[in-house]
Amino acid sequence: MNKPWNEQTGIVTGAASGIGQRIAEQLAQRGVHLALFDRNYEQLLSVAGQLPGKHELFAIDICNEEKVSEAVIQAAKRNGCIDILVNCAGITGKTSIKSHETDTTDVKAVFDINFMGSYFTSKHVLPWMIKNNYGRILHIASIAGKEGNAGMLAYSASKAAVIGMTKVQGKEYGGYNITVNALAPAVIRTAMVDAMPDAQVKYMTDKIPMQRCGTLQEAADMACFIISPENSFSTGFTFDLSGGRATY
Ligand SMILES: NC(=O)c1ccc[n+]([C@@H]2O[C@H](COP(=O)([O-])OP(=O)(O)OC[C@H]3O[C@@H](n4cnc5c(N)ncnc54)[C@H](O)[C@@H]3O)[C@@H](O)[C@H]2O)c1
Repeated sequence: MNKPWNEQTGIVTGAASGIGQRIAEQLAQRGVHLALFDRNYEQLLSVAGQLPGKHELFAIDICNEEKVSEAVIQAAKRNGCIDILVNCAGITGKTSIKSHETDTTDVKAVFDINFMGSYFTSKHVLPWMIKNNYGRILHIASIAGKEGNAGMLAYSASKAAVIGMTKVQGKEYGGYNITVNALAPAVIRTAMVDAMPDAQVKYMTDKIPMQRCGTLQEAADMACFIISPENSFSTGFTFDLSGGRATY
């Protein structure tokens, strides 16, 4: 199937800020009809107001499986299908702390959003994709999930779990014309990174051979390729966006 962009429906989580916002903008410009999920409704409203086209907004916490399920059903029924899911909602939790200093509640909260949230959205979207024998899922992971960033146990381990889920789902749905991939960026200056301690950001950026941060546009361009109909023979894979930090 080679459905044109303007006949597709997509869900983007974390669309009110940063990478999710830029991906939503790129998809809206291509004519994709969007269902945008974010817990920050005020910001989501303002972002959506600037997008071309008319889109559905869901002020939900992606850790709430019931709400995720309801929102997916609503979006799918209104549009008859869900072709694309991009999971961008995520948090770092506390950083610049060693494993023995971590707070269990914080580690669980990071896993709830970064892993469970992406598990919930994909779990509820997949039946619609199976029904239509088409789908493109992209989980935004992180270089931290591939390499492990010291000082970031919860974040690194939760993103490693996302990479593990991507490998499993890629294998499970290969026969349904559904691809499931991940993207592993290094550092891109967003609100999430700006909220981190300077020392932690320096640790991460110092490891990038290109000696710069990635840009939102680079992330969105690669995301749009990964979820395009043309990207039809790569699945279960974690695409690199790390300025040379990871070469695998
Ligand atoms: N910026 C980077 O350097 C970088 C690098 C690697 C990976 N990532 C990943 O990319 C994704 C986007 O990050 P970003 O830098 O754009 O962050 P951001 O903080 O700019 O945006 C994250 C968005 O997710 C939303 N969100 C958070 N928790 C939520 C929840 N429980 N339910 C619904 N919405 C929720 C926030 O409201 C926000 O709008 C994250 O998964 C992040 O881990 C970012």
